[in-house]
Amino acid sequence: MTTIEGSVALVTGGQRGLGRAFVHGLLSRGAAKVYATARRTVESNDPRIVPLTLDITDPDAVEAVAAQAGDVGIVVNNAGALFPGSLLKADMADVVATFETNVFGALRVARAFAPILAANGGGALVDIHSALSWGAGAAAYGASKAALWSLTNSLRIELSGQHTQVVGVHLGFADTDMVKAMKVDKLSPEQVADAVLHGVEKGESEVLVDEVSRRMKAALAGPVEGLTVTIGR
Ligand SMILES: NC(=O)c1ccc[n+]([C@@H]2O[C@H](COP(=O)([O-])OP(=O)(O)OC[C@H]3O[C@@H](n4cnc5c(N)ncnc54)[C@H](OP(=O)(O)O)[C@@H]3O)[C@@H](O)[C@H]2O)c1
Repeated sequence: MTTIEGSVALVTGGQRGLGRAFVHGLLSRGAAKVYATARRTVESNDPRIVPLTLDITDPDAVEAVAAQAGDVGIVVNNAGALFPGSLLKADMADVVATFETNVFGALRVARAFAPILAANGGGALVDIHSALSWGAGAAAYGASKAALWSLTNSLRIELSGQHTQVVGVHLGFADTDMVKAMKVDKLSPEQVADAVLHGVEKGESEVLVDEVSRRMKAALAGPVEGLTVTIGR
């Protein structure tokens, strides 16, 4: 359970799409300050929004942002990329870029901010997955989101000792640039942000935002209760 009222948050990809809705959702729930990152930042008229330049595929940039945002208690790992094509035919550079962004980029942010969250009392790490973590498809995107889902589950175990709430978010379609070409029913970004932030405040570890993700999860075999594998030091 994480209190948003009075908190300081950081949202990657926080200047458009779902990220922008997270920034405004956090503020409407009483956050005191929200760092909104983008690769090309735009200034905000709202003094509570602090724009920061960040490409999450750049390790030095992630470290630089963490050095500027040591007061953060909630991190929303929202930035993500979808390159069109198929796994077999897409340019291999796009496959690598998908994993660099959706998996390694999100992990870089988690690693950089884990000590900051610990220093600020534990807080919350929110990772934005997809219904395709379970449904697969969309070239490397589904595979990358499956990897991110697994990574989130591992981070939840590793961060439990410092009392960080780790929230995995699954959704089908929201009305943003990422899926603008798709003619399907979509939630508004504000609906997604509201459902996720409600889950954060309730202490949830997983938020299934829509019927698409609920049906995808229901189609899987259930988790194996009590089975945690720890390897190495
Ligand atoms: N929309 C959907 O239907 C849907 C469904 C399931 C999951 N999701 C997930 O929701 C998250 C937000 O997506 P969206 O729908 O808002 O997509 P979007 O409109 O395409 O926006 C993508 C966001 O990710 C940021 N980003 C991309 N690559 C980045 C990088 N290398 N470094 C830093 N930031 C980067 C972008 O920031 P810039 O401003 O710098 O470009 C932008 O804010 C993603 O993780 C996506 O996979 C979306």
